[in-house]
Parts: sequence; structure tokens; C-alpha cells
Amino acid sequence: MKAILCEKHGPPSDLVLKDMPSPKPKDDQVIVTVKACSVNFPDTLIIQGKYQFKPDLPFSPGSDISGIVKEVGEKVKNVKVGDEVFGFVRYGGFAEEVAVHKSQVFPKLPNMSFPMSASFMLAYGTSYHALKDRAQLKEGETLVVLGASGGVGLAAVELAKNMGARVIAAASTDDKLNLCKEYGADAIINYSKEDLKNRIKELTDGKGADVIYDPIGDKYTEPALRATAWKGRYLIVGFAAGEIPKIPMNLPLLKGCQIVGVFWGSFSLKNPSASLQNSMELMQMFSQKKINPYIQKLYPLEDAPKALEDMMNRKVKGKVIVTMA
Ligand SMILES: NC(=O)c1ccc[n+]([C@@H]2O[C@H](COP(=O)([O-])OP(=O)(O)OC[C@H]3O[C@@H](n4cnc5c(N)ncnc54)[C@H](OP(=O)(O)O)[C@@H]3O)[C@@H](O)[C@H]2O)c1
Repeated sequence: MKAILCEKHGPPSDLVLKDMPSPKPKDDQVIVTVKACSVNFPDTLIIQGKYQFKPDLPFSPGSDISGIVKEVGEKVKNVKVGDEVFGFVRYGGFAEEVAVHKSQVFPKLPNMSFPMSASFMLAYGTSYHALKDRAQLKEGETLVVLGASGGVGLAAVELAKNMGARVIAAASTDDKLNLCKEYGADAIINYSKEDLKNRIKELTDGKGADVIYDPIGDKYTEPALRATAWKGRYLIVGFAAGEIPKIPMNLPLLKGCQIVGVFWGSFSLKNPSASLQNSMELMQMFSQKKINPYIQKLYPLEDAPKALEDMMNRKVKGKVIVTMA
């Protein structure tokens, strides 16, 4: 089978396409013939050796997969050979075959394509966990989403509208913000032209936002936190813009607000039943046509490095997907 391999930490251009032996399942594993694997920002970090965990070299990046079950280990009962599935691995998805733990493999909805299924779990799982479990977002509250046209950002816009919130989308270009409007945003902020703090305040009549969803960090976090409402919740989701910000700790005191960490991967491992419940609710929303992940582009497996490069260069809206023949 072919796989995109990271043989040394570095940029996407260092990745290579190679023939590898097919994986063999352990007792609790499922071998999936991969049809699609979406690109997520952590993939751009893991190949540079900058992510929370560092797999042994060489490895394939890619975590959000869909495909067909090829083989199952002796203790696997939830899926069988030939089933169409989607699932989650920490890495290994940019390959024609991957071994997945049985608890991370789920039947694919018949009306959901392989690329759509692969675009779903990490982005929507993260944003739903953030808004529902961590922020406890309520109907009528105002949510600001930073990086709002990105994978987790656009999912947050769409899910928050379904939860009855007023959504302010913030992003770097008018084109990206137009997509956010199509996905339900009530108001927009172009933070490459407008002052983030002042615009949030203006759009909330001086009150500030009840909840802020921040997957970008860096220079954006402090002005956004300064525009958080009394008793607001500030969701720390990621640092796509680069630096992990250092925050003056008087700000949460003055606002009586909470700074809330969001880590979907750990949540799904530590609380699998709640995570499964969230996944089922998301599937139901998809079936009822309440949510519809935006797929900007498909890339063949050999072009996975280009897909990663496009993400690092802020060229991606919604999701991009690597597909296998
Ligand atoms: N906590 C969790 O459980 C969890 C789960 C999944 C992902 N994440 C994190 O969430 C973040 C977003 O992930 P994603 O997959 O949604 O990525 P994405 O699709 O690339 O979206 C990231 C957004 O960040 C913005 N951005 C600002 N400065 C940037 C820069 N210098 N380089 C790249 N993007 C920049 C871009 O929007 P503009 O151009 O409009 O600014 C882009 O749309 C990442 O930090 C990722 O690690 C966290």
C-alpha cells in the first residue's frame, strides 16, 4: 500500500510517497482501506515535531478517516469486513490502509460521502464539545468565532446557529467572511482591517460577547478577551496563528469570566460515552440537513503535502480532503 511518510521533521515539502507493507490488526483493531482523510491543522504541526505528541519516525500524518473495513482483530464486534466506516486515528491516515482502534470506528451514514464523512469527526466533534459541554452556550447568547472560516471555526458558526446563538464571525478576508455568512453568521469582523476589540464591543452594544471561540491565539486573544462580557466564557481551542498568548490575569478577574480549555481528543478518550452521544447528535443534525460541512477541495494522496501547505498558507476555507483511488 502507498503512504505519505514523514521521515524527518520539517515542512510538507519533506514528506515522501512510499510503498509500505499493509498493517496487520491487533486484537482490538480494525484495518480500514482508506477512501478519504481530511486535513486538520494539527497535521501541519505533527510533521514539524511541534505537536503535543511526537510519533516515532517514519509515520504518516492524517487523523480523520473514512473507508471500508478490510480486516478486523479477534475482539472486534462493532464492525465487520466490508462495512463503510469513518473513524479517528492520532496519525496514519494519509495512507491507503490504516489500523484504527475499535472504539474509534463508526458506521458511515449511507447518505454521507466518504469525503464528507472524513471531514466531520474532528472539526464538528471539537466545536460541539466546546460549545455544548465547555461553554454551555445558551439560546440568545452572542458567540464570537475567531478564524471563523477554518475547519473548526466554520463548524462552530454552523453549530452555534443551530443552538440558537447570535454569531459574530471574525476572519482575515472578505471572501472567507462571505462563506461564514452563507453558514449563518449574523455579523462579521475582518480582523485584518478592523480593530477586533472595538468591533466586538460595537456589535454587542458595549456589553461584550457571552462566549468567544478562539482556535487561533497569538495577537488575537488579548483583544478578544478584553471584549468578553461579564461572566462570559473564553474558549481556548488552538493557536493556528502561531504564538501561545500570555494573558494578563487581571482580565478574567475584572470580567468575572472563565477561560475554558477545550481538548476534544482527550475528552473522547476520557469520556467515551459522552463523546459517542455527541457524535450521534451530530449525525442526526447531518441527517436532518441542519449541518453540511463545506468541502473546498479534494487532493489525491500524492498531493497531500500541497494540501498541508495550503492550510499553513491560510488558503483553506472549511475543509480540504485527501482522497485515495
Ligand atoms: N482543542 C482541540 O481539541 C482542537 C481540535 C482540532 C483543532 N484544534 C486547533 O484548532 C486550530 C484550527 O484548526 P483547523 O483544523 O480548523 O485549522 P484551519 O482550517 O487551518 O483554520 C485555522 C484558521 O486560523 C486562521 N489563522 C490565523 N493566522 C493563521 C496563520 N498564521 N496560519 C494559519 N492559519 C491562521 C485562519 O483564518 P484567517 O486567515 O481568517 O485568520 C484559518 O482559517 C488549530 O490550532 C488546531 O490545532 C484544536
